[in-house]
Amino acid sequence: MNPRKKPNKPAPKANKVGTTGHNWDGIKELNNPLPRWWLWTFYATIIWGIGYMVVYPSVPLLTSATQGTAGYSSRLALEEDLAHFAARNAPLDEALIAIPLTEIQANPDLAHYASAGGAAVFKTACAQCHGEGAEGAKGYPNLLDDDWLWGGDIEAIYQSIRHGIGAEDDINTRFAEMSAFGEFLSDDEMTSVLHYTLSLSGAGHNPSFVGSGASVFADNCAACHGADGKGDRALGAPDLTDSIWLYGKSQSDVRASITEGRQGKMPAWQHILSEAQLRQVAYFVHQLGGGE
Ligand code: HEC
Ligand code: HEC
Repeated sequence: MNPRKKPNKPAPKANKVGTTGHNWDGIKELNNPLPRWWLWTFYATIIWGIGYMVVYPSVPLLTSATQGTAGYSSRLALEEDLAHFAARNAPLDEALIAIPLTEIQANPDLAHYASAGGAAVFKTACAQCHGEGAEGAKGYPNLLDDDWLWGGDIEAIYQSIRHGIGAEDDINTRFAEMSAFGEFLSDDEMTSVLHYTLSLSGAGHNPSFVGSGASVFADNCAACHGADGKGDRALGAPDLTDSIWLYGKSQSDVRASITEGRQGKMPAWQHILSEAQLRQVAYFVHQLGGGE
């Protein structure tokens, strides 16, 4: 058979569909129509888009956007969600507010609710100062240990949280007022009371100052910190005999506390949290391990 006599190949498609006229070194660009399935999908998305614009808020106006026929708004949806949860928790909140703080523990449902809610409140409202795990930082007390400036039973904790410390917008707030002794004491008195203070907790100190320091302490410090240095919770005056230091344990930190004074401050949370949230977070903090 003559290989030349092959039946004619079908003419290249190019002849039927035409080209775009583009030609690169003899390679032509065919002008094929778009695939039908693609085109219909494309039309469908346009129709869907128009429908969406009609039904949902979409077209931006000067100060708002078109409302949409469905009356949907993400803000409204959030409010509904919140209202839904508030309604669901309302009976628990009421029960929590109705009983004394000391009785929450004995009611497993409430205790569970308070603990979970309190943990959430703590994360958003308290962790930035007291630390994620309530471990505290310099100037911000550790809430895990059993060393309390103002008291560690649940009532005292609740009081600290509700009315804050040094909060100007709360007449029942607590005041941490450690005066600055830099101007009152001579250099010798300062040095001796510093070493005496360090000696109270067995921190590194120079024993030769302790005798004179004791009398400076009795005259100037005992009124708040107690004759034995064990502190006074009514005044928020820390126990100086333990090795827990709010403002640092180095000699220069302790010297700064005495010279410049310290006035720790915390907002009154009653202006920010609901009564139920206050109780939840008080319960949560009390539970953390250091509660009395
Ligand atoms: C802006 C920082 C800040 C935030 C936020 C904050 N606190 Fe405090 N908190 C402090 C400081 C500072 C003190 C110590 C004040 C002092 O020197 O007496 C304190 C003290 C306390 C005390 C008393 C501790 C003791 O030893 O007696 C409790 C309890 C407490 N905070 C709980 C909370 C809870 C619960 C929240 C969240 C609702 C919170 N704090 C949020 C700064 C803060
Ligand atoms: C008016 C009451 C008062 C007097 C007087 C007073 N303090 Fe204080 N002191 C406090 C209070 C309250 C705090 C806690 C401040 C805070 O929480 O911000 C404190 C904190 C301290 C601290 C920091 C403790 C820590 O944990 O970091 C030291 C140290 C200290 N006092 C030593 C002294 C010495 C020494 C004197 C006497 C020269 C003295 N204080 C007199 C009330 C007093």
